[in-house]
Amino acid sequence: MKKNHLIEKAKEVSRKAYAPYSNYKVGAALLTKSGKVYTGCNIENSSYGLTNCAERTAVFKAVSEGEMEFEEMVIYANSPHLPTPCGACRQVLSEFGPELKIMIVSSKEQLVTSISELLPLAFKL
Ligand code: THU
Repeated sequence: MKKNHLIEKAKEVSRKAYAPYSNYKVGAALLTKSGKVYTGCNIENSSYGLTNCAERTAVFKAVSEGEMEFEEMVIYANSPHLPTPCGACRQVLSEFGPELKIMIVSSKEQLVTSISELLPLAFKL
């Protein structure tokens, strides 16, 4: 899987975000170890707290299709600031292993990191 392909997928799905309240559109593309890509966007709600972030949309789509082994996630927002994932999404991503690579892409820069770097000492049962 080419890195640019995953970035393109994240950009493409960010355009589908339902974000009438913040107007901040996020896209995530999750590559599984089996080579499939699951995408997700943020989906807002008039009851703000019910909003689902792009990253969790992608993870939930993948898991509900029987995929739980992940290689990499690209997170994109058309903003000058890096769309670093929120705490809730970090915890959800860490559920499936500490090795997940994460590439965060803005209109100005890119950051390559991992879930264990973004959330050391994640909660585990
Ligand atoms: N958002 C995400 O999609 N991912 C994050 O990790 C943080 C925030 C969304 C939620 C909301 O629709 C908008 O960005 C502004 O908070």
